[in-house]
Amino acid sequence: MDKLKINGGKSLNGTVEVSGAKNASLPILISAILGSGKSRYERVPALQDIKTTELVLNHLGLSSTFEKGVMTLDAAKIATVDAPYDLVRKMRASILVLGPLLAREGKAKVSLPGGCAIGARPIDLHLFALEKLGAKITLDGGYVIAEAKRLKGNRVAFEFPSVGATENAMMAAVLAEGETVLENSAKEPEIVDLAIALRTMGAKISGEGTESIHIQGVNALSGANHRVVGDRIEAGTFLAAALATRGRVTVNGLAPHHLESVLAKFEEAGARVVRGEESITLEANGRGKGTDVKTQPFPGFPTDMQAQFMAAMCVADGSSLITETIFENRFMHVPELARLGCDLTIRGNSVLVRGKDRLTAAPLMATDLRASASLVMGGLCAEGETVVSRIYHLDRGYERMEEKLRSLGARIERVKESD
Ligand code: EPZ
Repeated sequence: MDKLKINGGKSLNGTVEVSGAKNASLPILISAILGSGKSRYERVPALQDIKTTELVLNHLGLSSTFEKGVMTLDAAKIATVDAPYDLVRKMRASILVLGPLLAREGKAKVSLPGGCAIGARPIDLHLFALEKLGAKITLDGGYVIAEAKRLKGNRVAFEFPSVGATENAMMAAVLAEGETVLENSAKEPEIVDLAIALRTMGAKISGEGTESIHIQGVNALSGANHRVVGDRIEAGTFLAAALATRGRVTVNGLAPHHLESVLAKFEEAGARVVRGEESITLEANGRGKGTDVKTQPFPGFPTDMQAQFMAAMCVADGSSLITETIFENRFMHVPELARLGCDLTIRGNSVLVRGKDRLTAAPLMATDLRASASLVMGGLCAEGETVVSRIYHLDRGYERMEEKLRSLGARIERVKESD
């Protein structure tokens, strides 16, 4: 298992280009199942989760090519509607094959994803939506089995704006008979990007990005042709690192309004933020100021930025209260950050952060994707050499992170386990 060696204490300065968004790529690649032709996607990030998605789709019968950020998928024929446990357990987003397989083939058999490090993450809202569209759902031997001769459009009102459930419902409804209205749907930019990709296939969708998405079912869809939106969480991670290390970083390749709630908090913490067409510049104004944050569904502060913002507040002047409302166990970075000397107190679903002027390096262990990003940030701020192990968690969601950080002046290198 690879590790990252970081010599902290240097501020980050420079410009970096974000990759395509992981959380847009996963549903969008899976939506290729819906098209009877060949789909082509640009700016697909080279991540472990993308590799896993490609393997799942190959298992289902889609042929694929992937080079230089361009993935092609040919769904001319679906070989099986069975997504087995040994593939699904690697990535819970595999549950997103449920809707498109059901819509295309009338049946889907997908292993229950199981929980993950940050929480139980049930799929009740996914199944609720598919049942509302006429699917018969049974659970058998750890599998979800969904069947429907032809899905029927309906009104689906979510009790919570679940990103995955909204995506599964969208991908089921585009081939259903009649109109579907998704109420209280998720509004994340990745949902909007999925709708754009589906429209290139001939889907009839409107209202994406609002709480009510309207879908007019069609009988068949062609292949997609789409360039994936920039990764707003990757962008936010680099900007948070600029704040934490008192530097000046520009991220290119995304629309600032995809990250507005985070930019507002960076400004509250004293940084200067300049919003371009497709770029954002953060210039720290010395040490950041302690700032409270509460995670919310989009357009609120994204849960995927909670750990990274906490790392930046660990070296801020003053205290911050960081509250996590989306997942029940997303503080696994707290004890690891404490090893650097961060002053953190967990109180229920909040963490009280008392900012420190300096941190000291220590060996750390990554536990989940965004936690590992926050540990790297902690290492960038700590005096001495920090080694972060189990960075396969990081590789799930960040493309060449250490290269991008090095280009910003960080002293960081990847160490192969065998070294
Ligand atoms: C997506 O996960 C993202 N993953 C997550 O990013 C992100 O944190 C999350 O949305 C929230 O923004 C991908 O897009 C691949 P949810 P998802 O359904 O779809 C509960 C990362 O770091 N819930 O909005 O699983 C659930 O338990 C990852 O990139 C139900 O109760 O998120 C959670 O507490 C981590 N029943 C909350 O809703 C359901 O049927 C939010 O889940 C579905 C969800």
